[in-house]
Amino acid sequence: MKVIVCKNYEEMSVTAAQIVADVMKADPACVLGLATGSTPVGMYKKLIEMNKAGEIDFSGITTVNLDEYYPIAPDNDQSYRYFMNENLFNHVNIDKSRTFVPNGMAADPVAACEAYEETVANVGAAAIQVLGIGQNGHIGFNEPDTALEVRTHVTDLTESTIKANARFFASEADVPTKALTMGIGTILNAKKIIILANGAAKHEAVSKMLAGKLDTSCPASMLNLHSDVIVVCDEAALNG
Ligand code: PGA
Repeated sequence: MKVIVCKNYEEMSVTAAQIVADVMKADPACVLGLATGSTPVGMYKKLIEMNKAGEIDFSGITTVNLDEYYPIAPDNDQSYRYFMNENLFNHVNIDKSRTFVPNGMAADPVAACEAYEETVANVGAAAIQVLGIGQNGHIGFNEPDTALEVRTHVTDLTESTIKANARFFASEADVPTKALTMGIGTILNAKKIIILANGAAKHEAVSKMLAGKLDTSCPASMLNLHSDVIVVCDEAALNG
């Protein structure tokens, strides 16, 4: 894995946005794999600025998001569909019908996962997949476990993730306990991966990921199987 260490959140966001922009310029009709969470918000702001300045064009872009809570309505302000609209899609010239997020309202969530895996396969491999990393080492909602799922699936959120995400909800009890998420194999299918991490709270997870071992207690360590991964992080995430 290549590691780019940035001074702070701002520099991390600019660096990540530049990497994504370069991929978009090389192929203006590519697929972007996108992530939610607080980490990539600054990167999305930069991408919006670049789009408004005419530097990058979203008109031919397709996006696939990693995950969605279950159950949750798309217009719930904590849904990842809502997050993507608010933080990127509403502000750039993208065709929203080409933006895909798992269906948090599906009557049959297992069938919805199969359908999502098919959608991701049909649009073709992401030219770049953006990832955050959970404090527990999760990527998407692939939580630490003795075995990890390969494809898109329904998952139970761990106590640690529910606690970490409670800050966005009125109370911890309001955090959905399940999610639909791409599997590790779905994620590894991207041609290029960047994983962003800032702050000391991510240090333990980042260290385990960089230890060079496949450790299911740190799902991000599975990225060691991919030949083009860039870790864009700040000093606190790298060094604690
Ligand atoms: P965060 O979440 O960006 O809000 O820290 C990261 C993640 O859980 O993947």
